[in-house]
Amino acid sequence: MPQTARLTIGKTEYEFPIVEGTEGERAIDIERLRAQTGLITLDPGYGNTGSCESAITFIDGEQGILRYRGIPIEQFEQHPNFGEVAWLLIFGRLPTEEEYTSFSTDLTEHANIDEAMKHHFEGFPRSAPPMAILSAMINALSCFHPEVFTLEDPDHFQMAAARLISKIRTIAAYAYRRSRGMSYIYPKPGLRYVPNFLHMMFSQPYQEYVCKDAVWDALNLVLILHADHEQNCSTSTVRMVGSSQANLFASCAAGVCALWGPLHGGANVEVLQMLEAIHQGNTTPEEFVRLAKQEDSKARLMGFGHRVYKNFDPRAKVLGRIAERLLAGMGTNDPLLEIARKLEEIALSDSYFIDRKLYPNVDFYSGIILRAIGIPTNMFTVMFAIGRLPGWIAHWWEQNETPGTKIARPRQIYTGNGATDYVPMNVRS
Ligand code: ACO
Repeated sequence: MPQTARLTIGKTEYEFPIVEGTEGERAIDIERLRAQTGLITLDPGYGNTGSCESAITFIDGEQGILRYRGIPIEQFEQHPNFGEVAWLLIFGRLPTEEEYTSFSTDLTEHANIDEAMKHHFEGFPRSAPPMAILSAMINALSCFHPEVFTLEDPDHFQMAAARLISKIRTIAAYAYRRSRGMSYIYPKPGLRYVPNFLHMMFSQPYQEYVCKDAVWDALNLVLILHADHEQNCSTSTVRMVGSSQANLFASCAAGVCALWGPLHGGANVEVLQMLEAIHQGNTTPEEFVRLAKQEDSKARLMGFGHRVYKNFDPRAKVLGRIAERLLAGMGTNDPLLEIARKLEEIALSDSYFIDRKLYPNVDFYSGIILRAIGIPTNMFTVMFAIGRLPGWIAHWWEQNETPGTKIARPRQIYTGNGATDYVPMNVRS
């Protein structure tokens, strides 16, 4: 395989190095393109642009492969432990028992948020979208933990990472309780990560929520399967913001905002609304698919399609299994699962979806699981953010630790007016 790429512009030929990743992925290194040729590349949506080298997550979209630090995500189905996966992503290998115990202790000890922060929740209207509260409060955390402004050594970083992973649950649960007008429930030190979150969400001062093992396992897996996905929109945002040396909390708050959009993490809400609309008889699976294919329609089959996966999204496969298992374990039946299966069946045998390689993505089944657990729809994207946080932190740190990291600053091709004179207001037509 050639190690350089040649580019001919006019009569001049330029040579650029080809870099290769550990799994054989190849890229033309164009770092010196503009300096040598005066030209830039144009790639709206960055579908062909590698923004960095990263050792965290590997995806092969054609084969439907997703690995965290080399470990295929399917293997976590047998070992569901979100804290362990968070450590793996952030620090690059599975933790020893001692490392894991210390990290878990940090997660437990830092679950509470400053009392003054509680008053911030009161300032939001009850109808406030929880993603807006989440982003604002993660950003506000730095006011209470100013050490995050100078995270120079790994121990300080580990503490800040544990703080954030721990507190995001508390903030999420408080945002939910605020929207319901319920009193806040403090974290309970004896509980592990997932049961503690559900305790803060669902316990009442007079009645404690008891987390069933099936629910614990399912939510653990949902969080794990969302934990990282290399240079997706929100992670790229975290890296972009972090590249200006903005602090970890500010960068992750920006990640929450990017995740909020319906084409990214917000799709899990849209999927559920779509399934509910079909269930309520407002439309049928066949009609919805027909509409999603129509060129002049804005409708899309939500939870289908992916920029990278042109084969099955492996997370959707695992989540489909978890949904079945959880509902069976709880002895319940959810008609939305049947509707989802029906939509999948119709779409996967339709040439529109086959030709465009559109398959179920991570959002297609996650909502059914969250719904079975009792998480309200407006909290779905918040759950995605809790899961994705270790990935954001891992990428922020990787970038921070990479020598020679530059501020991210894409260029553009300007298509506006040529030089134009200012016209005073009183003579403008
Ligand atoms: N339903 C119907 N048609 C679709 C869908 C869909 N879900 N997704 C893509 N298409 C069609 C497009 O209309 C387009 O058709 P055309 O070639 O005839 O114009 C073609 O497939 C390619 O679609 P693009 O939008 O160009 O693909 P892109 O890679 O830019 O978008 C995306 C990927 C945003 C995920 C898209 O598939 C989509 O909107 N899916 C629905 C929303 C969703 O589920 N988002 C969650 C993604 S996973 C995540 O972010 C966590």
